[in-house]
Amino acid sequence: MLAWQALAYGVDGNPGDTISKLVLKDDVPIPVAKDGQVVIKVEICAINPIDWKLFSGGFDGMFPLTFPYTPCFDISGTVSAVGAGVTALAVGDEVCVDLGLVETCGAGKPLGPCGGLAQYAVALAETVSKRGTLTAEIAAGLPLAGLTAYQALFTGCATSFAGTPLGQLTSGQKLLILGGSTAVGQYAIQLAKNAGVSVTVTCSAATMADGTSKADYLKQLGANETICYKEADWATVLAGRDFDQILDAVGSEEDWAKAPGVLKAGGDYVTIANFTTQPSADDKVKFKVFLLKSMASDLDVLVGMVEKGVLKVPIDHVYDFKDAPAALAKSFELANMGKLLVKVPQ
Ligand SMILES: NC(=O)c1ccc[n+]([C@@H]2O[C@H](COP(=O)([O-])OP(=O)(O)OC[C@H]3O[C@@H](n4cnc5c(N)ncnc54)[C@H](OP(=O)(O)O)[C@@H]3O)[C@@H](O)[C@H]2O)c1
Repeated sequence: MLAWQALAYGVDGNPGDTISKLVLKDDVPIPVAKDGQVVIKVEICAINPIDWKLFSGGFDGMFPLTFPYTPCFDISGTVSAVGAGVTALAVGDEVCVDLGLVETCGAGKPLGPCGGLAQYAVALAETVSKRGTLTAEIAAGLPLAGLTAYQALFTGCATSFAGTPLGQLTSGQKLLILGGSTAVGQYAIQLAKNAGVSVTVTCSAATMADGTSKADYLKQLGANETICYKEADWATVLAGRDFDQILDAVGSEEDWAKAPGVLKAGGDYVTIANFTTQPSADDKVKFKVFLLKSMASDLDVLVGMVEKGVLKVPIDHVYDFKDAPAALAKSFELANMGKLLVKVPQ
């Protein structure tokens, strides 16, 4: 099968080096479904920052890559084979899934080092959702970023690295999202708004391709208030506002220290983008570092919301398969507003 593959970590830890040296192979073996697994014929693969972050080698301790490595986790497609014990899925089902960082990277992981930027991928059946009426493009843009926003705000199913449950936001509460323009931020805005939560976000003053400012677009999605992080310090603007939760999708080290000034006593600072800073002890707020858990039960809920028209999948651009490195490069430059999708040859 066709698959894009990385051959090594980037020189000097530079993911851009690995992106520029990706190779398109035509003789990669089609994966086999073991017990509890399914093989998916991939139609669309979506890019996420973790795809290129792994190229730095900086995650090698927890999530080592073995080369040659097929990158990417988010896919939509059709089930082409099922392993023993799989009852909820059948050959021919149209599905979407986040293959899962924890499930794929590292010795002894159940799926081995397989990725979505290929004609076929293997997934744990318990992580795969039927995509209902969603198109392949819409479905591919949903899993990783959608699950992250949903679990970090609501489900309580996922836990932080520290093992504490996440997700307790309820109607009437106040949420601050650092990085409202990120795909996770855009999902979080909509999910929070639907739940009756008041949403404030940070974003740049940039405009989108159609001339709409990002701030106006995020308000259309449901944000009550936007703060341009290049023109004002959110901690100054929002001082004393007693937010219930901050969702940090940016990961700037200095933001940890500012959080107690805007969170209520007992409020949560949930970061999805900073795994290195150790916050100083603060008895006023709770700091939580979060990694999503791929699971079909949560993804089913999100698919249902999209079908009902209450959750929009943000899409920036759809690339041909030959241009997959350009999609990864745009993500690496943080120049996207929504999901970058890659069409896989059928
Ligand atoms: N822990 C987890 O389980 C988990 C899961 C998913 C994602 N993540 C992480 O969460 C982060 C967001 O992921 P994503 O896929 O949602 O991102 P994304 O969609 O690729 O983010 C793109 C957006 O980032 C914004 N941006 C660029 N530079 C910025 C800066 N200096 N400060 C703030 N925002 C900036 C830009 O909007 P503006 O023009 O408005 O700045 C751009 O539109 C990434 O670091 C990703 O690795 C973690």
